[in-house]
Parts: sequence; C-alpha cells; structure tokens
Amino acid sequence: MCGIVGCTGNQSVTPILVESLKRLEYRGYDSAGIATLNGAEIDVTKIEGKISELESILNFNNNACVGIGHTRWATHGVPSSTNAHPHVDCSGSVAVVHNGIIENFQALKEELKGRGHIFSSETDTEVIAHLIEETYNGDLECAVRDALSRVDGSYAIAVISDNEPDVIVAARKDSPLVVGLGDGENFVASDIPALRKFTNKVIYVNDGEIVRLTRNNVTVSTLDGLSVEKSVVIASGSVQDAERGGYEHFMLKEIHEQPKALRETMEDRLYELEGNVDFKELRAIEHAIEDIESISIIACGTSYHAGILGKYMLEDLVRIPVRVEYSSEFRYNNPLPGNKSLAICISQSGETADTLAAMNEARSQGYLTLAVTNVDGSTITRKADEILLTRSGTEIGVAATKTFTAQLLTLYMLGVYIARMKTLIDVETSRYMISSLKAVPGLIESLLDDINNIEKCALQVCEADCCYFIGRGLNYPIALEGALKMKEISYIRAEGFPAGELKHGPLALITTGTPVIALVPKGKTYYKMLGNIKEVKARNANVTAVANNSDDEIPKYVDSVIRIPDIDELFSPMLTAVVLQLLAYYTAKFKGAEIDQPRNLAKSVTVE
Ligand code: M6R
Repeated sequence: MCGIVGCTGNQSVTPILVESLKRLEYRGYDSAGIATLNGAEIDVTKIEGKISELESILNFNNNACVGIGHTRWATHGVPSSTNAHPHVDCSGSVAVVHNGIIENFQALKEELKGRGHIFSSETDTEVIAHLIEETYNGDLECAVRDALSRVDGSYAIAVISDNEPDVIVAARKDSPLVVGLGDGENFVASDIPALRKFTNKVIYVNDGEIVRLTRNNVTVSTLDGLSVEKSVVIASGSVQDAERGGYEHFMLKEIHEQPKALRETMEDRLYELEGNVDFKELRAIEHAIEDIESISIIACGTSYHAGILGKYMLEDLVRIPVRVEYSSEFRYNNPLPGNKSLAICISQSGETADTLAAMNEARSQGYLTLAVTNVDGSTITRKADEILLTRSGTEIGVAATKTFTAQLLTLYMLGVYIARMKTLIDVETSRYMISSLKAVPGLIESLLDDINNIEKCALQVCEADCCYFIGRGLNYPIALEGALKMKEISYIRAEGFPAGELKHGPLALITTGTPVIALVPKGKTYYKMLGNIKEVKARNANVTAVANNSDDEIPKYVDSVIRIPDIDELFSPMLTAVVLQLLAYYTAKFKGAEIDQPRNLAKSVTVE
C-alpha cells in the first residue's frame, strides 16, 4: 500500500523524488521521506504527514543525483517521523524503502538486537537495513540478496549505500515494482504514474527478481543470481492522466470521465448488427468458456460489488450457478475443486494482495482464471489465464468510480458473450442488449449535465450521522456501493440493504429524519420498492428516490427525487451508480473532507 521510488541520474534528484512521490500518494499518505546520496553521505528527511509537508522542509539546494523515497500507509507502528521510511542501519550507511510486510521481522529483530544492532523504529522494514549492514562486503547487490534470503513476507524495496554512490538495488516479491529507463538516468517505482513524467520506457519486475540500477545501466537477475533478459515496454497513458485537469478533485474528474471510459471499454467489442460481443483476448479459451458449468467471482470492496451485479446478471443470462466471494474469504476457506469452473477475478488495480492470492488458490483448484482489471501490466495480468481490460485510464482518487462502471459494463458484455456462445439468447435479444449498452455513455452525459438535485440531497445528508441505501435486484449491489462510497469519503455511517430485508432488522435504525436513498428505477420490483419506501416513511425517514425521468408517480411517495434518464431496468445500475458517486462526493465536499485521500485508506491494497 506504500509507494516507493528511486532515481539514479545526472541531475538534482530531490525534485524528481518529490514529483514521483506525489504521483504515488494515492497508495498511502500518512508519512513520507526521502534519502539522497550527497557525496559520501546519505541524507534522510522524513515527516509524519503528506508529500506537500515533506516538500516544504526539504533542501532542494544540493547536488545529490541518487536517492530513494517513500509514501507510507502504516502497518507496523503508528504514522510518525520515526516510523516513516527510509530506514537506515546502525551507521547510517544503508537506506531502505519498502512496500509490503516482513512477516518474520520480530524474530529477526531480536536476533539482530542480540548481536548489538540498535533499532530506532517500530517497523518491520528496519530489519532489512540491519541485515544488509551485516552482510555488506563491498557489493550492495550481493548484500541485498543475502538479506532477502532471510526474510519471509512481501516486499518491493529500493536500497542505497554510501559506499556505492551511483547505485540503487531494488527487488520484488508479491508487491509491485517497475523500472523506468531514461537518458543518463534510471528509475524504479511501485507504479508507472510515478515515472511517467520522466520516461515511457518501462520494465516490469517479477517476483524473485533483483535489479541493479546505475545512471547508465540496468541489470536484472534472480535472487539466486541468474541473469534475466527483460523486455522493455512502452507505457500507455499520458502524463495528463495523473493531473486534475481543472477539476477540484481527481474523484470529480474521474466521475466525469465515465462516458469516455465506457466508450473505450466497449470499443471494438460490440457488434450490434451481428448481435455479437467479440472479446479477441478470449479466443484462446473460447472452448473452455463454452464448457463451463459454474462461475465464481472473486474480488474486494467496490470490485466485489461489481461482482454481485455480475452474479445476478450472469445467472439470469447464462443460467449456470454464479457465486461471488470476497477474495480474503475465498483464499482461506478451502474452496471446492473448480473443474469446468471459471474464476472471474476483478481488481481495478490488479495488485490487490487478497485477490491475487485467491486467484492462485482458484487456479490450484482447477479453475480457469479470467482477470478483469484496469491496469495493463499489473501483477494480475501476468498471472491470470486471460484478461479483460477495462479501459478507463489512470484512476487516482482512492474512491473507485470510473473503473467501477467499466467493470459493470465488462460484466454485461461478458454475459452477452457467454450467453450467445452457449446459444442461450437469440440475435434479436443480443442486438437489443448491445444497443442499450452503447446508449449508456450518452445517458450518463445527460445525467452529468444536471446535478442540482444531487447537490441538494448532499446538503441534507452531510448534516446527518448516518444514512441508508436501499435497492432490489441489480440495484441492490449499487446500494451497497453507494454506502461504501459515502462512508469512505464523507465518514458518515452508511449501510446498503436489499429493500426487502429492512423489516428483518435494519428498520430499527430508522428514526425521524434519517436519510434513506431508495433506488427505484421502473422495473419488475418497482411496486415492491414503493412498499418498502412506505415502510420507512411510516417511521418518518427522509427519503430521496433515484428514479426515471418519466416516473410521475414517485414524488407522491418520497421527500425528494433525483432523476436518471429512462433506461431498461437491466442497465439502470450504470446510471444509479453515477448518482451515488456524486452524492458521496458532494456530501464529503460539504463536510470539508479530504476527498481524494480519505483517512486510513489507500488505492492499491498490496497487503492482506
Ligand atoms: O484494486 P481493487 O479493485 O482490487 O481494489 C479493491 C478495493 O480495495 C477497492 O475497490 C476499494 O474498495 C475502493 N477503493 C473503494 O472505493
């Protein structure tokens, strides 16, 4: 969840490290630090707080051309300047930044203390610096290799030593790491956005690989010392992707980017005339998919909510059992063998530790694995049997928005694809579904044109201690997602419920004025929803309905209405989701919350 960067080059490194860290701040932002090699000495500066605070105390007037940096999401030890990275050995000659968890750090720490090492932080990372100190014998790469042979757990690390002023050594196991190749300068980072301003030439580092970077050379080898040939990839995406582009927050920019993200995600995949969805990426496993008899969808957080919608929709279209499971549960719950089963692993970042581990477990149980992710080149893309990319561009806000609706779209397309392949739907039905999907980006555009009522509703919700979201069928997972968005960025207690479940417990939470957001697009459960709205109104809740433009009946039942364009109920979640994202956004904004970097969270959850 932390972000690491490193640069060895021919110009002042401090501004480069700061710039790179800013691009990685979505990974963690409770403390930060850098270490630079200034002549024969390592200078470390670290603080509790954000990169901007680090920036304000850094000395930019130095000639250091080599350095490493870190932005932290605390695991071992509170956020503080002492626990912030980089960590150094006893003599301050080695500095380390780390993303991951060293599971046997306590035993190693005791052992090292027993040999006289003095520790200054509560972190697991610091043992790496002391292990390197013990084995250093004039070759940093060798010492790192020896140190890593002693540690269990996950890591992406970057290390410098004052004995080797041009060198950075980096290594990876179960935490992301990329190398960037520049002209007379080379970089290492947790993720491509950190490097994008300086280069588009990248090398993906695999688990068990160690990299030695100097300003003019990069070599990669295994932890056992075998040299590895790597290919250089040209990174997609632009520097502007990682800029706010005039919007007050990344989250708002990304909400508004949804029509574009959806158009890109459906590009080249929907053939309306033929009534076909074509996933060229899946051609190699087409026959295996045709034969599948069950599906497990595995994901966390927002991606899990997309998975619930996927279950409802796929069971309806494809008529085979679909289970949806939290990655963190699936991996430890002795999953059943997956013969003729497809595991759809959904992860926006492609780096979520639990989802990667669950996918490995699924594969070892015989599942065919299909990853749905937004990040090309992420770990999941290299481990799944096949991948479907959502093409949403970089998402920086911690709250997932455009990637969520692109996941929904991908699951709809997959539903039509499998249903057609198994001849469960005819061409006419498929054409109708495809043309409905194609209309969605335009409908979201018209929804985004008038958000007055959403802001009004947010003004009410921001005064409340709690709020509830209710929906049925395909809009039930959207109610869950609306609640997650609300609690995540506004810190208001929010829960989502299947509307029919209210009377089995949650109704006890409703008192006078409690905000309830009801998702009521026209469809087969519309009148059931009206009944549920009556139940909460009878307890004096303040109900806002999210309803179709043409619904004249709804105002009689509720206190206020947020309108969405008319759309088949089946596809309405892609519109109701956008409304709830905006509702959470404006509620958080009116509360003055830190929208893009909510407390305690990070964008890419690379620890379990
Ligand atoms: O990258 P992933 O989709 O695997 O991330 C899973 C969750 O951590 C993520 O969806 C999280 O719930 C969202 N940031 C919430 O907005």
